[in-house]
Amino acid sequence: MAQSQRKILVTSALPYANGSIHLGHMLEHIQTDIWVRFQKLRGNLCTAVCADDAHGTAIMIKADQNGITPEELIEGVRQEHMADFKDFGIGYDNYYSTHSPENREFSEAIYKACRDNGKISVRSITQAYDPEKEMFLADRFIKGTCPKCKAEDQYGDNCEVCSATYTPMEMINPRSVYSGATPVEKESEHYFFKLPEYQAFLQKWTRSGTLQDQVANKLAEWLDSELHEWDISRDAPYFGFEIPDAPGKYFYVWLDAPIGYMASFKNLCDRTEGLEFGDYWNKDSDAELYHFIGKDIINFHALFWPAMLDCAGYRTPTAVNAHGYVTVDGEKMSKSRGTFIKARTYLNHLDPQYLRYYFAAKLNSRVDDIDLSLGDFVQRVNSDVVGKVVNIASRTASFINKKFDGQLQAAPAQEAMIQEFIDAGDLIADLYETREYGKAMREIMRLADIANTYIADEEPWVKAKSEDTLPQVQEICTVSLNLFAILATYLKPVMPDMVADAEGFLNKELTWDNRVELLFGKTVNKFKALMPRIEAAQIDAMIEEGKEEAAKETPAAESTPAEETELSKEPIAAEINFDDFAKVDMRIAKIAKAEHVEKANKLLKLTLDLGGETRTVFSGIKSAYKPEDLEGKLTIMVANLAPRKMKFGLSEGMVLAAGPGGEEIYLLEPHDGAKPGQRVM
Ligand code: MSP
Ligand code: ZN
Repeated sequence: MAQSQRKILVTSALPYANGSIHLGHMLEHIQTDIWVRFQKLRGNLCTAVCADDAHGTAIMIKADQNGITPEELIEGVRQEHMADFKDFGIGYDNYYSTHSPENREFSEAIYKACRDNGKISVRSITQAYDPEKEMFLADRFIKGTCPKCKAEDQYGDNCEVCSATYTPMEMINPRSVYSGATPVEKESEHYFFKLPEYQAFLQKWTRSGTLQDQVANKLAEWLDSELHEWDISRDAPYFGFEIPDAPGKYFYVWLDAPIGYMASFKNLCDRTEGLEFGDYWNKDSDAELYHFIGKDIINFHALFWPAMLDCAGYRTPTAVNAHGYVTVDGEKMSKSRGTFIKARTYLNHLDPQYLRYYFAAKLNSRVDDIDLSLGDFVQRVNSDVVGKVVNIASRTASFINKKFDGQLQAAPAQEAMIQEFIDAGDLIADLYETREYGKAMREIMRLADIANTYIADEEPWVKAKSEDTLPQVQEICTVSLNLFAILATYLKPVMPDMVADAEGFLNKELTWDNRVELLFGKTVNKFKALMPRIEAAQIDAMIEEGKEEAAKETPAAESTPAEETELSKEPIAAEINFDDFAKVDMRIAKIAKAEHVEKANKLLKLTLDLGGETRTVFSGIKSAYKPEDLEGKLTIMVANLAPRKMKFGLSEGMVLAAGPGGEEIYLLEPHDGAKPGQRVM
């Protein structure tokens, strides 16, 4: 049973220091934390580090907007992030920052090593420049009109409406999102990492079991075509580390971000007896190194990062484990629907262990998206955790407490069943190890069903009523609590607090190996309720708070306001029957008033007359219509759509329009003679 102790270092992606932790991030940190706790429970020497990713333009700008220094901003955010993780039961051994002396040192050293190996090239490139702010502008910091379809308010690299790609200077009327100034073209020297020279290395590395098949296949497409040199420098002003031999040039945030893994670990080593940095990072290291990341940042971890590490003489990761994105009720997390839920918002309403269990039940080793379906969440947690696992203890503990003074039976019983529970640990361990948490949870619940069936068949509550059968009750409860202890062991990585309470009750610190040491003849403590059911009202309150938060938030310059991305998404229509269709109440509406909405890029505010009743509707048609041209016109609206709270106010319906977008949006107009308020069929 005893394996030799593995030395393992684990990381999660470093969250940006300019925003709050949300449930998308939490999927990753929960996935990582479960794996780390599992390794520790097995007796391995497993260390987990993370940090905030503190550099880059966005952070510099945000600090500027808030009237504080970047250092003040990132330290405040780091405190917030650390509190969120702690309260979710995420136990990093160190949570550091990329803006640290250790990270500066490693970044400089790795850069110098690459340079001395001839893997850095320098050349001039032309970029858009904001002459007012006196800074270079990345494409997404420029907005303008699409040169192809003329859609307004598109980002500087591609058009969300017609999918055209272009350079910012090809746009019609491009402007800086910071100052509104028209960008000019300007040359500057940039530093590049010669990634193409690592093509063969990467072809081999990505195929050596370091990546999931899904990921390796995707990367193979890239690696079979030509790789480009990677631009690792940015011009001042920039919040980051200056490049040693290049005054005024800074490392691009993505250069020093993964190096932040090393820096956080080094910082921990420096204050931890027996933890040696080189044991984990030297080329000949026998330690294992795992990065847990989301699918959007695979290139940085599976191409640039291993190439740089190799170039600088360090070992490469044992594996990069990518996960998919969190959706809520089947859709992208959305601020207006209240499903862009911050970690803190969740914590204000619900026990973190519910989500830890739910994510565990949904996770596998693949890169698939994970849906947090709110109804399913309530049902699943209540039925599995409360109804199955906790139930084993709560149905039997009170008899042991009351009738036997906490004393468990001394003689072993039901050995075959208990042995089955113990043996299942090998499979469950494999499933944890390979990140098949969903399968592990199903196996645990299968066992819980066996335990519950045993209790139901034995009916201790009946047997407790007569002196003759009372001794049997002690046996039933002893067996049940042993089964419970084994299942609690298996769930300890997922629900550490609940299991800590169970350990208090069982008088035993549970480890993977000591699950074979059974509780016969032992005494348990007084049982306290371990975990209440989730009430649907808690979910409603959380979503409500999510909506309120989104409503009061002013969108940062670099983020797309939620209502706009949603409108531009083309829905996929499923077949409906006549009854479904009849539910849609379409009415002739007269546009009584049409107005611009301050700060909204795509919306017009329409006041619609339904023949007596008036409605306010925000509609994403600004790129196609001038308000004054709309007033007095008839159109068709959906009148029984649930009102939606948007950033600019309540929208009480929808007007019907067709077209690809941009200037080509056509409001539907009824023939003359139709009257406001008439039903459309
Ligand atoms: N700072 C970079 C990572 C640098 S790692 C050296 C970054 N930060 S992030 O805050 O945008 O994202 C951090 C992690 O959270 C990433 O792994 C990302 O994939 C993950 N997620 C962010 N939103 C997510 C969801 N909605 N769902 C699941 N994971 C998501 O990228
Ligand atoms: Zn376009």
